[in-house]
Amino acid sequence: MHLKILGSAAGGGFPQWNCNFHLSRRARNGVAGVRPRTQSSLAASADGTGWILFNASPDIREQIAASKCLQPSETDPLRSTPIRAVVLTNADVDHIAGLLSLRERQRFTLYATRRVLSVLEENSIFNVLDRGLVDRRELRLDIPTPILDWQQQPTGITVEAFGVPGKIALFLEDEAKAADGFGTQEGDTVGLRITSDAGAPNAFYIPGCARIDADLKSRLDGAACLMFDGTVFTDDEMLTAGVGSKTGQRMGHLHMSGPDGSIASLSDIAIGRRIYVHINNTNPVLDERSPETALVRDSGWDVGFDGMEVRL
Ligand code: MLT
Ligand code: MN
Repeated sequence: MHLKILGSAAGGGFPQWNCNFHLSRRARNGVAGVRPRTQSSLAASADGTGWILFNASPDIREQIAASKCLQPSETDPLRSTPIRAVVLTNADVDHIAGLLSLRERQRFTLYATRRVLSVLEENSIFNVLDRGLVDRRELRLDIPTPILDWQQQPTGITVEAFGVPGKIALFLEDEAKAADGFGTQEGDTVGLRITSDAGAPNAFYIPGCARIDADLKSRLDGAACLMFDGTVFTDDEMLTAGVGSKTGQRMGHLHMSGPDGSIASLSDIAIGRRIYVHINNTNPVLDERSPETALVRDSGWDVGFDGMEVRL
């Protein structure tokens, strides 16, 4: 199985258009070791020919332009794509806005939980993806789902979605339900187990996760590769940076560091490769020379970057 990180940044990207924090400024200025990143997306392929996109980022056009494997080849028909399907992990803007760029009467399939499909349903702008061409399919929780192309042919990739602690999409938060997760429902945020064949090594893609509980740990134990929520290094990072008032927890994201962070929480289970994705523009690991990057690496994690490939 081929995995390629198309976008390793969280919502807003890196540098974010209006961010003047030192990290965005240094990325903008081309400082060595502070590389720019596009918004959150992964591509997977069983055979290196047909590809599945996991999340459709607002930067999808740029991501396709940077990835030959996602472009039509010279001998392909006049309108074609090697992208067979798109699978969504939530309905946040950084994961669904790219769907709007996949119009132009192209056939593919779209998979998401019933909850995320209902968000698309309620926002008529997504009707630019003609239902006759883009079949919307429900991804049921805890059931391995072979991803099929528009002709109902197997793509060779199977996905199992499972609920993870998280949050309703930011633009749907209901302040009146603040005490009740702002209206969060089942299926709002899922993690995905991705395989190419029965018995083949597992990859997990979890770009948003607020907490690591025993259930999640037992699922992840023995994984060949984990791509996990690397939004913030410390929970109060956005406040400390002076760029916002929300903690990682308030945004539905678990921090990397500290006794209850993802590094410590997953340190006692077997995972082949650990890679952080969905990295916010305040996270010090965006500077490859920072002590926080050294700590992450010494703990057995990689900091994902755009174009990073993993072969399982
Ligand atoms: C998040 O991951 O918390 C969201 O992408 C935030 C957003 O929609 O900007
Ligand atoms: Mn996000």
